Amino acid sequence: MRRLGVCYYPEQWSEDIWARDARQMVDAGLSWVRVGEFAWSRLEPHPGTLRFEWLDRAIDVLGAAGLSVILGTPTATPPRWMLTRHPDMLAVDREGRRRGFGSRRHYCFSHLGYRGECERIVTLYAERYGAHEAVEAWQTDNEYGCHETSVSYSPAAGEAFQRWLAARYGSVDALNAAWGTVFWSMEYRAFEEIGLPNLTVTEPHPAHVLDFRRFTSDQVVSFNRRQVEIIREHSDRPIAHNFMGRETGFDHHTVGADLDIASWDSYPLGFLEDRIHAPDAWKRTFMAQGDPDFQAFHHDLYRGTAERLWVMEQQPGPVNWAPANPNPRPGMVRLWSWEAFAHGADAVLYFRWRQAPFGQEQMHAGLLRPDSVPAPGLAEVAETAREVAEAPHAEPAEASVALLFDYPSAWAWETQPQGAEFDYFDLVFEAYRGLRRLGLDIDIVRADAEISGYRMVVAPGLFAWSDPLRAALSTFDGIAVIGPRSGSRSESFQIPETLGPDVGGLDLKVAYSETLRRDVTERLEKGGAFKTWIERCEGGATVLERTVAGRPAVMAEGGYRYLAGWPDAAAMLRLFAGFAQDAGIGTMRLPDGVRVRRTDRELFVFNYGSEAAPAETVPGLKAPLPAAGVARLPLAG
Ligand code: GAL
Repeated sequence: MRRLGVCYYPEQWSEDIWARDARQMVDAGLSWVRVGEFAWSRLEPHPGTLRFEWLDRAIDVLGAAGLSVILGTPTATPPRWMLTRHPDMLAVDREGRRRGFGSRRHYCFSHLGYRGECERIVTLYAERYGAHEAVEAWQTDNEYGCHETSVSYSPAAGEAFQRWLAARYGSVDALNAAWGTVFWSMEYRAFEEIGLPNLTVTEPHPAHVLDFRRFTSDQVVSFNRRQVEIIREHSDRPIAHNFMGRETGFDHHTVGADLDIASWDSYPLGFLEDRIHAPDAWKRTFMAQGDPDFQAFHHDLYRGTAERLWVMEQQPGPVNWAPANPNPRPGMVRLWSWEAFAHGADAVLYFRWRQAPFGQEQMHAGLLRPDSVPAPGLAEVAETAREVAEAPHAEPAEASVALLFDYPSAWAWETQPQGAEFDYFDLVFEAYRGLRRLGLDIDIVRADAEISGYRMVVAPGLFAWSDPLRAALSTFDGIAVIGPRSGSRSESFQIPETLGPDVGGLDLKVAYSETLRRDVTERLEKGGAFKTWIERCEGGATVLERTVAGRPAVMAEGGYRYLAGWPDAAAMLRLFAGFAQDAGIGTMRLPDGVRVRRTDRELFVFNYGSEAAPAETVPGLKAPLPAAGVARLPLAG
C-alpha cells in the first residue's frame, strides 16, 4: 500500500503545537511520521535519569490524529555525558585522529561499552513502545556509514579486528598464505601482531585492507543485528534502517537481510552536486531535477536488500550540505515520489516537517518554513497524496536484466584502483545508465543472487567469483555480460593462476591491463570508445569488435559477452542494445532526461528534462510530457 509521510522532531518544538502539526500533516495526506532518532539527550538527560513521558505524549498526539509512527532508535547521537562515561568510544580516523563530539555519528562500532549503552536504550524503547498501537514501524540508528563513519582505527577496532581474523583464518599461517605476507617480509607469528592498515609508511598490503573492510562491514552488521533482535523481542512491527546514497562503507545486502524494510534517504539535488562524477554541463542541465538515473539506481539496489522498500527521507526543497543548493524545479518533488513508487517503494517520507531555526540544518527546507507557513514543497506533496490515494497498489514489473552490485568489489578496487579514475560504483552506475536509456527494467542484485529467471545478467568489475555465482553462470541460458576486470582476483586478493576472467566456458585470458588518463580514450571500430581501463586479451573466444587501434575489445563465446575495457556512454548504449537484442529483450532509445519503469499494471514515464518530451519519445505516450512530468500508461493485460 503506497503511503506518504514525514520526519518530525517533537523535541524541537513546543508541546502546544504538536496537535496542530499532526492535524496539518493529516490534512496534507500524510499518514506516516518518523520520530525519535536523535532524541537521546531529552530522553536521558543524565545517565540513568529517564524522561520518556514527553515522547509518550508526542506519540499519543500523533497517533490520535490518525498517523502511524515510525520510531527511530537514538543511537546515532549519544549525548555528551556518554563521552564522560566512555572517553574512548569515539571513532579514530585513518590519520589516527579521534573524531570529536559536536555533531552526530560520533561512535566507534567496535566499542563494547557503547554497544552496551545502545542495548540498554534500545531495550528501553522496545519495552515501552513495542506494543504501542501507534508505533507501526521501527528504524534502527540513522544512516550507518554516513559522514564516513563505518570505518574506525581505534584501539577497540584493533582488538576486534584481531579476533575477527582469528575466527576467519583459524591459524596465522593460513592468514599468511591467503594474504601473501611473504611480500616485503610482512609475515606474522600471531594474530596479536596484526595491526590496523593505517599509518603505514607506504600503501598497506591489499589483502590486509580488504579484510579490514570486510571486518568493518561486519561490525555494522552485528551492531544493527543486536538492535533488531532486541526490538523483535518486544514488537512484531517491521524494522527498517535508512541507508544513504552512494554509501559503500558496509555491505547493505547483509544488513538488509536482518531488516524487514530497506529504506533510504533520497536527496537528488544534493547528490547531483555532491556524489556524482559527471561533467559540469550535465550537472547544470539537471541542477533543479537531479540526475535522471541516480534515484532509480538506489531504488533498484536497495529493493534487492530486503523484503520491502521505502524512501525514509525525501528532499522537499533546497538542502544545506551540497556545494550549491538550488530549489527543485516545480513538479520534481512529485516526480521523485512517483518514481520511488514505480520502483517498488510502498512509503515515501519527506525530510522534514518544519525547517529548523537552529542547529546545523537551519538552511535545509522542510514542508513548512520556520515560521510555520507552508513551503512550496507542501502543496506538491498534497497533490501527490491525492494522486497516490487513487492508485494505492502496484508491484514492480519483473525485470529482464540483473545487474550485479557487490560491496566487496567496491572495497577491493578502492584498495587497488590502479588509476585515479577507476571507481567501481561509477562503473556499475554507468552500466545501469546505459541499460536504463534503453528503457529496460533492472534488478540490482548481490553477487550470489538467483539469476536463472533473467534474460541478461551484467557483472562489471566483479573482483572475485563466488562458487554459487560460478555455478549459476555455468547453467545460465541468457546473455552474461562480464568485464572489465571481472574475476581478476581471488577472494583473498590474489591473481588467479589462470589470470582473469577465470570463468568456465569462456576461452579468454586478460594478459595485462592499462589505465588511461582522464583525457585519453581508445576508440572502438563501431562507435564510442573505451576510457579509464583497457585490457589486452588472449584466447579462442570470438572477437566481436576491436578498438580502432586493432586490439580485441568485445569477445563472445556462447552466452558470454566480455568487455575488455570501460565503455563510454556512447559505447555502453550501443553495446547493451546489441546484447539485449541477443537476449531477446526489446529496447527503446530514450533521450537524456526521459526514463521509464514498469509496474505490474502501468508504464511510468518520467521527464527529468527541462523541456517537454515529444509524444514520440515513448510508445504509448499520447501527448508531449512536460518538464518534471510523470505519465502513467496502462499496460496491456
Ligand atoms: C540525512 C539525515 C537527516 C538530515 C538530512 C539532511 O542524511 O538522515 O537527519 O541530516 O540528511 O539532508
